[in-house]
Amino acid sequence: MIKKIGILTSGGDAPGMNAAVRAVVKTAINSGVEVYGILDGYRGILENRIIKMEKSDVAGIQSRGGTILGTVRYPEFKNAEVREATAAKLKELGIEALVCIGGDGTYMGAMRLTELGINCIGIPGTIDNDISSTDYTLGFDTAMNTIAYCIDHLRDTSSSHHRCTVVEVMGNHCGDLAMFSAVGLAAEIVVTPQHMMSVDQIIDKLNSFRGQGRKQTTVLVSEKMAEMNVVDLAAEIDKRTKYEAKWEILGRIQRGGAPSAFDRLLGATLGGYATQLLLKGKGGLAVGIHNNQLVANPIYEALKMHKEPYFNINEMLDLLNN
Ligand code: F6P
Repeated sequence: MIKKIGILTSGGDAPGMNAAVRAVVKTAINSGVEVYGILDGYRGILENRIIKMEKSDVAGIQSRGGTILGTVRYPEFKNAEVREATAAKLKELGIEALVCIGGDGTYMGAMRLTELGINCIGIPGTIDNDISSTDYTLGFDTAMNTIAYCIDHLRDTSSSHHRCTVVEVMGNHCGDLAMFSAVGLAAEIVVTPQHMMSVDQIIDKLNSFRGQGRKQTTVLVSEKMAEMNVVDLAAEIDKRTKYEAKWEILGRIQRGGAPSAFDRLLGATLGGYATQLLLKGKGGLAVGIHNNQLVANPIYEALKMHKEPYFNINEMLDLLNN
């Protein structure tokens, strides 16, 4: 029977991580297992920044944004020697298993530590929604709500001035934030790596919207697309259409704020489930929800899986924008 587990958050923070931390701590302590919070992700292990957690440490944290454990990007963890030293340190401390909350980099670390004898279970925590073994990742819903708030505000001023607003959203090469926002928040055009459009195609579309009498338009663009710089795109639109164009980069605003009710629920359920699996001696798994069920897939499979939005983006934009 496991006596001590650890918990960490790693990579970009995401709203809902705290709800998951709370669920892990409570589930473990209520099962008679000690929980150790590792500060600042995998790096905190070798730096010995590890604290024993009590239920009082997690009281009320489900409503707080960010992660109370802190997080870092830790590229050194790709180095096999660093991972071996980390596994040895955990064994020395008697920490037999870990819950690792984060995105694909965090999952890769969890898989490698499991291979070194420390059972790890990954909880998907990233606003990007780019973990394919789950329908939704922690933080995606809250980020969508933040984008909704921003787009609503931008649309007020954009329609008053009859402008086109080009908005860059995050996603780290995954177009979900942009595509879901375009459909749900009624943007006219969306450009992502999965839904590419050329500048000429965008200009043609905007000219046709303008010809139909549409006074203002919103163009959503995923970040990190070499082909699509929002500043240059706005300048082209300004030059080649009748819209005056402005651009906005929403940036890390999308990562902050109190988690939505859905992200708190997801954190609570995935945190509880991951801990139950660890206490049963399972490891190397990535938990998530799929088709309204809790699921656990081997991490190496989770990292290879592929998912599509549950709607057809072209069909939806055609239906909604004509
Ligand atoms: O993975 C989450 C994310 O917010 C990405 O959307 C973004 O590309 C990246 O993190 C930014 O990370 P950082 O804040 O470390 O620059």
